[in-house]
Amino acid sequence: MKTITEKIRQDAERLTDREEEALRKAGNIIRQGGLVAFPTETVYGLGGDALNRESSRRIYEAKGRPSDNPLIVHICRFEDIAEIASDVPEEAVRIAAAFWPGPLTMILHKSDRVPYETTGGLDTVAVRLPSHPVARKLIEYSGGYVAAPSANISGRPSPTAAKYVTEDMEGRIDMILDGGAVGIGLESTIVDLTVTPPQILRPGYVTQEMLSNVLGKVDTDVTILQRDSGQAPKAPGMKYRHYAPKGELTIVEGDPELVAAYMNRQAANARERGERTGIIGTREHMAQYQADVVKCLGDRADEESIARNLYSVLRQMDEEQVTRIYSESFASQGFGQAIMNRLLKAAGYRVVKV
Ligand code: TXA
Ligand code: MG
Repeated sequence: MKTITEKIRQDAERLTDREEEALRKAGNIIRQGGLVAFPTETVYGLGGDALNRESSRRIYEAKGRPSDNPLIVHICRFEDIAEIASDVPEEAVRIAAAFWPGPLTMILHKSDRVPYETTGGLDTVAVRLPSHPVARKLIEYSGGYVAAPSANISGRPSPTAAKYVTEDMEGRIDMILDGGAVGIGLESTIVDLTVTPPQILRPGYVTQEMLSNVLGKVDTDVTILQRDSGQAPKAPGMKYRHYAPKGELTIVEGDPELVAAYMNRQAANARERGERTGIIGTREHMAQYQADVVKCLGDRADEESIARNLYSVLRQMDEEQVTRIYSESFASQGFGQAIMNRLLKAAGYRVVKV
């Protein structure tokens, strides 16, 4: 299959004729059962018609993803939620008013219109109304219901720029809309509204505190920051080793001086064994690190910069063929919890305390 790529600016309100035409073409591809990768405010998505079981099958195939791992249905108007959810609780209306359009996904009971291929066999459906103007226009032109997982090969870090989508999906999908780098860089927060109290299944930019301010008590799935909780994660996709670079990643926690000394020593040892070594850190500590490849995530004081760069830094470690990687650790509260959750999964929960 030949994959067409079209560049499109973030500002979908004032599109050039060419961009408008590209978006309409993308919408038609999805209506006809094809697949289009597109930018959202979180990460790039791989879109297909959510109401067409064949499209969902194609998405799983293109990603190499297990078909028990459900897809998120993206909509472009709040009222469309009633088409795909069988009953919309009052909590959904409240958090939609507070956080939609934006990086939040709700789990609701599904309607009969949504095929089981889209929900991985579940009776619930994940729904999100993204804020990215290109995403919203594409959803509109596609008929209103776009199933879209992150546009990476299963197990690789989610794409935060179109070049990473091309790396993974060239030849596997019909079209890529290149809208430049994404804003947030980590996938949406997922909150399950089919349980009481509501439960966060995947942390993201919308934090537990922000949700609690609107909903009152909100729980967090215990598997988010621990591997050995003895429970299976409630979002099926969270059980897979995910977001992972090819090299072996270890997170190092402790006093910054000790962390740097430990990482440098381990890197030197690994190098002697013939490995290619990498260190991932923050600007505040960069000067202390020694390895073949040293990458800066951003300012420790600015979590948003860290989230934005995390996946591309993990991919750069692959590009540089690093086999052993060490990373600083991050806060387990607020937005830091989302960063740490993804990093822990990338590291297969390998953490060393020094
Ligand atoms: O930010 C995002 O959410 C991105 C962009 C493209 O919108 N999408 C995304 O999709 O991250 P994906 O497929 O990579 O992750 C979806 C997650 C998986 O962990 C899946 O198991 C979970 O959502 N999920 C989907 N439907 C569910 C359901 N009915 N119940 C529980 N978890 C569900
Ligand atoms: Mg994903």
